[in-house]
Amino acid sequence: MEKKLKSHGAWIGKWTFILAATGSAVGLGNIWGFPYKAGTNGGGAFVLIYLLCIVMIGVPIMISEIIIGRRAGNSPINAMKRTALDSNSSSLWRLVGWSGITAGVLILSFYSVIAGICLNYIFIAAFPSEVLTSSDQFGAVIASPLNLLFWHTVFMLLTFLIVSAGVKNGIGRMVKILMPMLGFLLIFMVIYAMFNGAFVRTLEFLFAPDFSSVTAETFLSAMGQAFFSLSLGMGSIMAYGAYMPKDQKVVPTSFTVASLDTLVAMLAGLAIFPIIFVFNLEPNSGPGLVFVSMLSAFNQMQFGQIIGTFFFILLSIAALSSSISLLEPGVAYLSEEGFLSRKYAALAISLFAWSLGIGTALSFNLLSEFNLTPGRNFLDSMDFIANQILLPLGGMMIAIFVGWFMNKELITNEVGYINPIIYKLWRFFIKYIAPISVASIFISQIL
Ligand code: PFF
Repeated sequence: MEKKLKSHGAWIGKWTFILAATGSAVGLGNIWGFPYKAGTNGGGAFVLIYLLCIVMIGVPIMISEIIIGRRAGNSPINAMKRTALDSNSSSLWRLVGWSGITAGVLILSFYSVIAGICLNYIFIAAFPSEVLTSSDQFGAVIASPLNLLFWHTVFMLLTFLIVSAGVKNGIGRMVKILMPMLGFLLIFMVIYAMFNGAFVRTLEFLFAPDFSSVTAETFLSAMGQAFFSLSLGMGSIMAYGAYMPKDQKVVPTSFTVASLDTLVAMLAGLAIFPIIFVFNLEPNSGPGLVFVSMLSAFNQMQFGQIIGTFFFILLSIAALSSSISLLEPGVAYLSEEGFLSRKYAALAISLFAWSLGIGTALSFNLLSEFNLTPGRNFLDSMDFIANQILLPLGGMMIAIFVGWFMNKELITNEVGYINPIIYKLWRFFIKYIAPISVASIFISQIL
């Protein structure tokens, strides 16, 4: 006799799922990862390869995660277990859910510290220092453990409050506010950059194809970026799928989410690089790009205080709508099993992730010399374990499960009617292309 699990409720209307999943997908990866990678790896050639990865690997795995989640209506652990049992496979498939939830908590622990710095920068951009250069400013921000911990705490608290308020009233309601705000701020930034920045040079940087710089490395980098950007392999999309209305079409919805995510990544490039180039700053990626180069540009330009403040609000919103999707799968599991109420489950997991985040905050200062894994400090170790090991492993196992083990009738029931050619293509991608490609990223990253 199967145990009765507590229900989490569902979203009404198809836009809530689309906004929530897009919110998960659109994060720091889109803003400081994609544009730089595209610009320095062959421009249009990279964009083309990236789009192929999205269509042939990303969307097929997203469809698979949603199918499993929605069919079961549970957290990734129970969704994998149920679907496996209903397909006459081993309940050990639930380990894929466990690995996802673990990855989510690890990513949340450092995502929150970095997102905390974004929150801090809303104020730094609004009230710029008269004496510090932008790189000294960044140095001062990360040199202070107390400062980092303060903003890490604020960010984690926001994440906790949204998730603990529930699927409908917390996550569902917040994404309807956050995502339009993000869209508005981004479009504003692009229009500003179009008129005030080096727009043509940016178009060249991002989109002019240079096939001579494409190597095997380019494919791996595009695949890894596509995977991280769509939030795959760790149960966020599976958990959100559980709240998706039954009459919503899985395949077109997945395409919509992937398209919006890609659009935001490209618009982020069009918002950032015109400003970088007009001030003759070097293109860069990650924290150096936004906290040093962008701040330096804001400090030099007209209305920089306002534009800069908007920019860091944008970044914080993108991070917040991703962090809630990192917390949700674990909270769903603890609460549906009846171990804890949703509030206490959210409190327990966010406290745990918060404590782990202390290691990340200190890896910028007091513990910068300390290596948790060989050659990697605390932050890099967390990032390595989650992003380089658990995510690709999870994604590969999900593709293998849906491609080779899941009962076909369960799949077609969940997919509903779609064009037979698209269905066949999806089956082909999920059975062969996705597992082989993800396995190759995985192996190359480990080596
Ligand atoms: N997709 C997010 C980004 O591009 O920044 C990061 C992320 C969020 C990864 C949630 C995984 C996840 F479950």
